[in-house]
Amino acid sequence: MSSHCAWLMLVTFPFFLMAGAREKPVCTAQSNIGKEVLVGSNLTVSCVFSKTCTKIIFRDNEEIKNKQSPSSSEVSVDVKDVTELSIFTCRCKEDPEPCGIDITPGYPPDIPQNLTCVRKTEYGNVTCTWKIGRETKITTICHLGVDDGHPLIYSSVMNSTGFCFSTFPIRGSMLQLSVMLNISNSLGSNISGPHNFTLRNIVKPSRPNITHIECFSQRCHLRTDNHSMNLVEVQYKVENQILGSLQTGAEQILNVSSLHPYTTYKFRIRRKINREVGLWSDWSLEKEAETEEEAPKKELDVWYMQDPKSSNCFRIFWKKFSKSEAKGKILRYKLSVQVKRKKNSTILDANITNRPICCDSCSVSVSAINSKGQSPAKFINLRSPESVLDVKSQILSNDSIALFWTKPAIAGPKTEYVVHWYAVGDKEKLWWIRVMNTSIDITGLQPHKCYHGAVTALRSNGPAVAFIHGISTWQSVPEQGPVPQQSWKKSESLEVKWSTISQDKIRGCLRNYSIYLNKLNGSIEHFSVNYSSTQYTISGLSPGECYNLWVTAWTDAGEGPRGSDLPFCTLSDSEKLLSLVILAGGTVLLICLIILCFCQFSSVQKRFLRCCQCLLPTVIPDPANSKCAREYVVEQFHHHQSDSSISEDPDIMQVEEFHSPSGFTCNYIKSFSQESTSSDTTQITRTTDITGDYIYTRGAISGGEEEEEDEEDRSFDEFGFRPCINPFLEPLVLSNGKLDLDAVIINCSEFMDCT
Ligand SMILES: *[C@@H]1O[C@H](CO)[C@@H](O)[C@H](O)[C@H]1NC(C)=O
Ligand SMILES: *[C@@H]1O[C@H](CO)[C@@H](O)[C@H](O)[C@H]1NC(C)=O
Ligand SMILES: *[C@@H]1O[C@H](CO)[C@@H](O)[C@H](O)[C@H]1NC(C)=O
Ligand SMILES: *[C@@H]1O[C@H](CO)[C@@H](O)[C@H](O)[C@H]1NC(C)=O
Ligand SMILES: *[C@@H]1O[C@H](CO)[C@@H](O)[C@H](O)[C@H]1NC(C)=O
Ligand SMILES: *[C@@H]1O[C@H](CO)[C@@H](O)[C@H](O)[C@H]1NC(C)=O
Ligand SMILES: *[C@@H]1O[C@H](CO)[C@@H](O)[C@H](O)[C@H]1NC(C)=O
Ligand SMILES: *[C@@H]1O[C@H](CO)[C@@H](O)[C@H](O)[C@H]1NC(C)=O
Ligand SMILES: *[C@@H]1O[C@H](CO)[C@@H](O)[C@H](O)[C@H]1NC(C)=O
Repeated sequence: MSSHCAWLMLVTFPFFLMAGAREKPVCTAQSNIGKEVLVGSNLTVSCVFSKTCTKIIFRDNEEIKNKQSPSSSEVSVDVKDVTELSIFTCRCKEDPEPCGIDITPGYPPDIPQNLTCVRKTEYGNVTCTWKIGRETKITTICHLGVDDGHPLIYSSVMNSTGFCFSTFPIRGSMLQLSVMLNISNSLGSNISGPHNFTLRNIVKPSRPNITHIECFSQRCHLRTDNHSMNLVEVQYKVENQILGSLQTGAEQILNVSSLHPYTTYKFRIRRKINREVGLWSDWSLEKEAETEEEAPKKELDVWYMQDPKSSNCFRIFWKKFSKSEAKGKILRYKLSVQVKRKKNSTILDANITNRPICCDSCSVSVSAINSKGQSPAKFINLRSPESVLDVKSQILSNDSIALFWTKPAIAGPKTEYVVHWYAVGDKEKLWWIRVMNTSIDITGLQPHKCYHGAVTALRSNGPAVAFIHGISTWQSVPEQGPVPQQSWKKSESLEVKWSTISQDKIRGCLRNYSIYLNKLNGSIEHFSVNYSSTQYTISGLSPGECYNLWVTAWTDAGEGPRGSDLPFCTLSDSEKLLSLVILAGGTVLLICLIILCFCQFSSVQKRFLRCCQCLLPTVIPDPANSKCAREYVVEQFHHHQSDSSISEDPDIMQVEEFHSPSGFTCNYIKSFSQESTSSDTTQITRTTDITGDYIYTRGAISGGEEEEEDEEDRSFDEFGFRPCINPFLEPLVLSNGKLDLDAVIINCSEFMDCT
């Protein structure tokens, strides 16, 4: 808002609404040195009233004391050191209508500065811009005088940041331009000049355009609109980073070479009359273009890791090309395996970067394929390295570790080493670096993670390796303890297994486990087990005693908390005897079943019936409903067989050594066995491995390894007994760890065939 009307708006607006305008103002306000004054001035503001009344005067709406004689029609006030806009108003006390004046302090203009004149195109008008030296704070106007024999003055406007602009035409065939600048306000004026310009030198060509771009893999041709300039600058960027620029003569086709394939470039151009004359035009609008693909020229970086379990199995890893190496979009990888002149190639998806391979004395190569071709293949021989190096490590920070190693004995002066590492539990993500030194700082590690790795020296006579087992930048104690579980138990020994802890709970490199055995008398025994095993056999226990057991895990930072407790009691000697007896009972029942089968068969039935009557109840029992068959046979068989002190080959023993005691009936076994059911429930659950082979085979050995099963199979073959082992038409059904014989049907025809 202009300072002239500020006071009017402030004071009179509500008044207009109330009373409407009057013909003659009550008073007029004035200053002895005008409205616009130099900053810091002393002045006197006075109001002349047209009628007599009680006169009051305000500065910025605050009444100020004034010297006045009641008879005088004038009231005045002396103001010192005005530095800010001040609004003075006067009125009669009785009459709300005021008069007023705005006093604006300011400065006279400085010398004009920074004059630039530009001619738009060779035939256009000239625009000059200059700046007033310091802010004047009051209305200031600029003038520009052009003297070409007939001086002409052009006025201009000043914008709010103190710049003046003036645009004027060029008359006739002027070569030189001479301008004068004049800045003025109410406090004074200042001039500069004359300033002389050579007209040709201030010509700024119009903005050029890129009309068309054609790209090949390493160069682009830019077509521009017609122009008469003969210097053009081309600038090209990738992702807003300027990569280069070149200046050329103004051909209509601009050739930009040494570009990268498969890259999107942004081009822009500007132009100038020539190298010496004129100003640069504005930059053209940017135009994008993509260069074409090329076949990759570099070999992929390929490395491998041997499977620790198998000497001829490896996992091949390769690193993706960087964008500039790929020279295009990698579509596939080609993995070739060469075994003795025979080459086998596999095409793999572009997102695959590793592959397991099993082969003997072979070499592999991987190449990357884009739309224009494939990268050269580099073969690497898959060999089990010799272990001769020695690696030391030193933690540098939370994400880096320094590794040092010794030169292997037979290494040449220029031996290349490959250092690889991976986080434990994530073998599919492998990092590796190739170095010529015997030390390296590996980075990008995470605290609380454990890494394995190796340093491999690529010697001419075969690789040499040193393994790095478990390095970590920052370790804590494990957050969890392992949960122990009883695997088997005897009267004097027990095997315990425990769960592994998930990698993120270990918080470092697992070193070993501690097993604590708390006896009832309070003493605690302690066993240490290497981290690679998760089971342990404790011997030397007392029969019939109870213990509590727990397991903890250790990292380099110390011992973690204990997992759950495993309380257990060893078998007493009498229980041991009992189990032997139950086993014998089970064997009798089995014999009963076999005889039953014989008796069922019609041709043999009669002959055996009389002999069998002693064993058969009046109604032939259904084996599926026999409780003793259902629960105890299996269980006690197992019981017996797990005790290796009784027999090394329980399968055979049960049949051969059984002598049926007379009067030993099924009923007896039934009731007898019931007593012992509750003694050890864990035994029942251990029969879960029983499958269709019934008692003889897997029922006896729980958690059996495949090799053991093979052995059993063989022993049955020796006895020529095999077809009879599986006389059931349907497999047994196991529920809740109990063998359910409901589904058992004995196929006696097969049974007879084999005898
Ligand atoms: C204004 O008045 C003060 C005190 O009366 C004096 O010191 C100062 O120099 C005066 N300023 C001007 C610009 O005259
Ligand atoms: C012009 O500006 C200069 C520098 O501020 C100043 O010294 C000079 O007095 C000014 N001239 C006029 C006429 O105000
Ligand atoms: C004006 O010119 C001076 C010196 O020539 C320079 O330091 C200053 O930055 C320029 N100011 C502007 C706004 O261009
Ligand atoms: C005043 O003109 C200058 C020079 O062209 C410009 O940089 C500035 O932004 C303008 N200020 C305003 C408020 O327009
Ligand atoms: C040059 O300036 C004159 C006068 O100010 C105006 O009439 C004319 O249109 C301008 N020419 C161009 C190309 O701007
Ligand atoms: C500058 O312009 C002011 C106001 O138009 C004028 O009074 C003054 O004479 C001019 N000065 C010169 C040197 O032309
Ligand atoms: C550019 O100039 C050439 C010859 O000077 C002419 O044939 C062509 O039509 C012009 N193109 C444009 C877009 O003006
Ligand atoms: C630019 O390339 C085109 C096509 O290859 C060729 O005709 C032209 O001569 C080249 N121009 C320059 C300046 O190299
Ligand atoms: C390393 O990481 C651990 C766990 O994140 C943190 O407590 C420790 O302050 C870190 N040390 C440094 C030196 O950054």
